[in-house]
Amino acid sequence: MKRVLITGASGFVGSRLVRAMQNEYELLTPTHAAFDITSPEAIESYIEEHRPEAIIHLAAISNTGYCEEHPEESYLVNVVGVENLASASAKYGCKFVFFSSDQVYNGNLELGLLTEDVAVSPENHYGRHKLLAEQRALQLCPDSVALRATWMYDAEIEGAPTHKNFVINMHEAMASHGTLRFATREYRGITWVDEVVRNMPYTLELPGGVYNFGAENELNTYETACAYLAMMQYEHPEIVIADTERFAEHIRNISISMQKAHKASGGKISFRSTLEGLRTFEQK
Ligand SMILES: NC(=O)c1ccc[n+]([C@@H]2O[C@H](COP(=O)([O-])OP(=O)(O)OC[C@H]3O[C@@H](n4cnc5c(N)ncnc54)[C@H](OP(=O)(O)O)[C@@H]3O)[C@@H](O)[C@H]2O)c1
Repeated sequence: MKRVLITGASGFVGSRLVRAMQNEYELLTPTHAAFDITSPEAIESYIEEHRPEAIIHLAAISNTGYCEEHPEESYLVNVVGVENLASASAKYGCKFVFFSSDQVYNGNLELGLLTEDVAVSPENHYGRHKLLAEQRALQLCPDSVALRATWMYDAEIEGAPTHKNFVINMHEAMASHGTLRFATREYRGITWVDEVVRNMPYTLELPGGVYNFGAENELNTYETACAYLAMMQYEHPEIVIADTERFAEHIRNISISMQKAHKASGGKISFRSTLEGLRTFEQK
């Protein structure tokens, strides 16, 4: 059994990934207190003692608003934390896979599904720090794999934290007939976390580099919400309101193309489109 260290195992993605991988892998899942990624000493002594073959790094400050208000803390955890783990991975010969974000594309002006080779210049601290983390990790450990994940969703499940997300917001609005505003000038993939978790083992075999990792979606966010309500045969489509003013400066397109990871994994890594993922989720 391959020995894999998962950081952030208590988080939204981590708790689900542990459940999915625990029968096939020997997992090491230290808590934040036992393994603070901002401490190079704590990392080194843990890795020296436990000798994982791979590290899946999910620990982060994942809240973009919090990062905007606390840029130093965001830098420390989301950049320095990645540097520390990349250095240790290079030193101990571990495969290093970590989560970046589609937010690295939030300053791009191109339309359509974005590929990893477009020049990026993110407009918020979270995006900038994720980009820096990618660059530093690949310098320190060229075999590192950075996954540009999209906004993820799942239902609330027992024993695992769940952030507010697209389906939870929609279900709450449908139950209460509350209204929700969605931007017509925003394009992004929205991905069921089950699909992310299902594809994760294949990422351990990817060559070093940056990869988009999530659902493709050619609809804008308002259209996505409308299509979801139609799929749910919900009788009050007026609960979804078109927000035509948000992202007035430029269309915010962070929607990803999945071609690179699909090809590099010999076709093993594949995601349903956002709408197909939502359909599969709701039929579960
Ligand atoms: N969720 C999304 O929709 C989304 C979208 C794109 C990218 N991502 C990225 O995907 C990854 C996983 O996200 P997530 O939603 O699962 O995050 P999350 O639920 O916020 O979990 C973050 C985890 O990191 C741990 N952590 C925070 N600071 C730490 C530190 N200094 N040392 C050790 N552990 C620390 C937390 O432990 P404690 O709670 O004990 O502090 C928690 O287990 C992150 O890199 C995130 O940026 C997420």
